[in-house]
Amino acid sequence: MNAYLNGEFLPLAAARISPLDRGFLFGDGAYEVIPVYSRRPFRIAEHLRRLQDSLDGIRLANPLSPAGWQAVVERLVAEADFPDQSVYLQVTRGADDKREQAFPVGVSPTVFAFTSPLVAPSDAVRAAGVGAITVPDIRWAKCDLKAISLLANVLLRQQAVEAGCAEAIMLREGCLTEGAASNIFVVKAGVILTPPQDGHILPGITYDVVLELAARHGAPHEIRPVSEDELRTADELWMTSSTKEVLAIVNLDGQPVGRGERAGRPGPVTQRMHHWYTTFRDEVMRHADA
Ligand code: PDD
Repeated sequence: MNAYLNGEFLPLAAARISPLDRGFLFGDGAYEVIPVYSRRPFRIAEHLRRLQDSLDGIRLANPLSPAGWQAVVERLVAEADFPDQSVYLQVTRGADDKREQAFPVGVSPTVFAFTSPLVAPSDAVRAAGVGAITVPDIRWAKCDLKAISLLANVLLRQQAVEAGCAEAIMLREGCLTEGAASNIFVVKAGVILTPPQDGHILPGITYDVVLELAARHGAPHEIRPVSEDELRTADELWMTSSTKEVLAIVNLDGQPVGRGERAGRPGPVTQRMHHWYTTFRDEVMRHADA
């Protein structure tokens, strides 16, 4: 069974919800995406903590305990045909018998999860890096919540795809926020820069891992507002997410990132961080076996 819906494990194709579900009508819910390597979830406790924060942020009681979620994930992961997976969790405020914005009374949340093969960037894409465009951040003021209402992200990511790019990098009041589905890191004069978790970005699990690794390896880094100018004149850029890990951005709005011979190619700091990331991830996964 590759899906879970309201207490039942079932094939994804057999899962059914009401058209009055508030996730469908209002985007009223929260979600998580957890990467799984060789059937071992990576940083699941942190993902479940962030799910709790998102649910608290939208005033929706968590229908499952961390152990309950863990059990759902474990069963989906164990029963899948593929070892590397992306597990999706979602909770919505459920289906009432009418359409009314304010919270319904006496309605159970809809609890949904499914697993699919982890689609990671190919070695060729990773070696070459990807392109991105810049766009105005047209989202709401609670971007720290992993809410399922993602219309702005959808429109911006589509704009990137239509420009032949992998990501849309958002700018708000002259500063970098994040990608449509990733956090963004800038390298300038050997220093790794990334914006603070101030409500305008998602507190990325991969973002945290990258900052932990920078600290552990003594790589200079600063968490502070990053200006549009710093973004545009970066020596290196990369994006992070649970599925992309650390992925070099080598072209921004049609211009190569960086200067000189290295321009338009994944830079040394990016490559080092990707190496630290995969080494750390593999180490953690090995310990999960012990
Ligand atoms: N997205 N910022 C946004 C807006 C995101 O949607 C994501 C991840 C991230 C990176 O967070 P993390 O490192 O915890 O994956 C940052 C997931 C993967 C998605 O929506 O598919």
